[in-house]
This record gives sequence, C-alpha cells and structure tokens, in this order.
Amino acid sequence: MQRLKTLFIGDIVGRVGRETVGALLPGLRERHGIDLVVANCENAAGGLGITERTVREILNAGVDLLTTGDHTFDRKEAPEVLERESRIVRPANYPPGTPGRGSTTLDIDGEVTVGLMSLQGRTFMGALDCPFRAGLVVADRLGETTPIIICDFHAEATSEKIALTYHLAGRVTAVLGTHTHVQTADERIVAGHTAAITDAGMTGPSDSVIGMKKSVALDRFLKARPRRYEIGDGTGVLNGVLLEIDTRSGAAVSIERLKAEHMGSGESA
Ligand SMILES: [Fe+2]
Ligand SMILES: [Fe+2]
Repeated sequence: MQRLKTLFIGDIVGRVGRETVGALLPGLRERHGIDLVVANCENAAGGLGITERTVREILNAGVDLLTTGDHTFDRKEAPEVLERESRIVRPANYPPGTPGRGSTTLDIDGEVTVGLMSLQGRTFMGALDCPFRAGLVVADRLGETTPIIICDFHAEATSEKIALTYHLAGRVTAVLGTHTHVQTADERIVAGHTAAITDAGMTGPSDSVIGMKKSVALDRFLKARPRRYEIGDGTGVLNGVLLEIDTRSGAAVSIERLKAEHMGSGESA
C-alpha cells in the first residue's frame, strides 16, 4: 500500500453523533476508498465522556481508532474502558499513573503500521503536563516503530494549536485539532510533511450549541446558574478531514475538509 487514505472524524456527540457515524461511514469508505478511520469520542456518552457500550458501538460502526479529551474521565467506567481497549487513547500529557495510554499503534492488513497520539492543551483548560514536551517524547517513541503518526490535539486556543503544529511539523504526519466542535477552514500541509487543521469540527446534532440543546445552553449564559446539559436537536452532521498519506515517508500528501449530513436522524439522545 503506497497511499493510506485516512478519515479523521471530529468529536462524536451523543446518540445522534454515534448514529450519524454508523449511517454514513459505509458510504464514505466506499466513495473515498478509505483505509483507516480515526474518531474523537470524548462526548460519545450522552455528550459527556465514554462508556463501554458507546465505545463498542463506535468501533462496531467501522471506526478503527479512537481519541478522547477533557471529558475522558467524566464517566466512572472510563478507566476500565481505557485499560482494556488498546484502540482508544487519552491525552498523553495526563500525570504519570493515569489509566489508559496516550498513544497506540495499529497494523493495517499486515502492511502498514499507524501510530496515534493524543495531547490536550492548557490554555483556557485544566492544568496538565506540558503538551509540547510530551508531544516530542511520544512522537520520537512512535517514530521508532513507524513514520506514520497522527496526533489529535484537543485544545481550546487556536494559538496553542497552531504553535503545537509548528512544534511537531516534520516529525508527525498530522496535527488535527478537536474540542471546539466548530470546523476551521485552515487545512494545510506544513513543512511539506504535516497535515494540519485547527479544528476538525463536531459530529452530532446540527440544531444545537456545539451539540447541546439550545435552550439549556442559553439558560446557562442568561442565568449564570448551573444546568445539566442535554443533547441538541436536528439532523446529524459529520465533520472531519480526509488525509492521503505516503506510507513510506509518513508524509501527508493532501488534507481535505469533509462535511456530511445524515438526514435520517432527528431525535435527541
Ligand atoms: Fe468535545
Ligand atoms: Fe473537549
């Protein structure tokens, strides 16, 4: 395999998000000749966190590898899921001793090995270890096994995401942003090697405030009191990017934004 066609899917939100992936993935795989699917699933379980059932559902839908983010440990079964399932990663810059793994590798058809790593930002987010230093360490370690390394950078600030992209440029195949749930239009190849986008966007209900019910989100802003989030309404939309990767050098040859709608799903979850 000379070229590896990879689909990266942005934050899957709730049942609408999971169903959208399940409904659209077979068609997308065929239409684009996709060899590998990676998705961020930090909002898969009711909008917050992961459970055994939701992770299995997404993997069964045809996703090969999963990343998470600041909602990784929202559900109490998350540590167990992360320990048991080698196809899911949490940010590598969590403190030493955190359950799960910050990176993983996957063999495709016994021909190509893909490395996946996750990092979380620190600007306007919780305090973790330095993602810049952790990123270099993990990229170097994965680089001993394979030149194909995909990095999900789960962060709020565009500046931090762009800075980390330059920090890892040439060392990894792609730095793909997640967490804001809004797709940016800055997809590009940096240093002739590393595909990048500040945010891949969200996969979930279209009629919502970044996946959550509009009335609840508005209430939180207007009344400044806590209120439990609920999943939003509308059809399911899938946001992500398509990458074409040179398997010998590990360089990204192209990156393309992707947005697809699932008309069959309108219910809340
Ligand atoms: Fe998210
Ligand atoms: Fe997040």
